[in-house]
Amino acid sequence: MTEDAYICRCEEITGDEIMAAIRQGARSIDAVKRRTSACMGLCQGRSCERLIVRLISQETGLPIPDIALMTRRPPVRPIPISALGGERT
Ligand code: FES
Repeated sequence: MTEDAYICRCEEITGDEIMAAIRQGARSIDAVKRRTSACMGLCQGRSCERLIVRLISQETGLPIPDIALMTRRPPVRPIPISALGGERT
């Protein structure tokens, strides 16, 4: 991997930035996310999460299944009450 390659393309976070976060103590996706904003882009980590897990594993020696993935939160959007089964208009 070239260190200046984008790992998170949505947020334009490079391998260097991810590795710096790991060297500062990040041992989970959420920890890397808080330090770099990786996984906060349009795809919400669908493209970069697995790459970051692999980097954490390579750098720390942790087995991949032991690395905590992201906490997922559903998007919150206002919807009309009729969408929940109210009267038809
Ligand atoms: S590539 Fe990281 S959030 Fe989309």
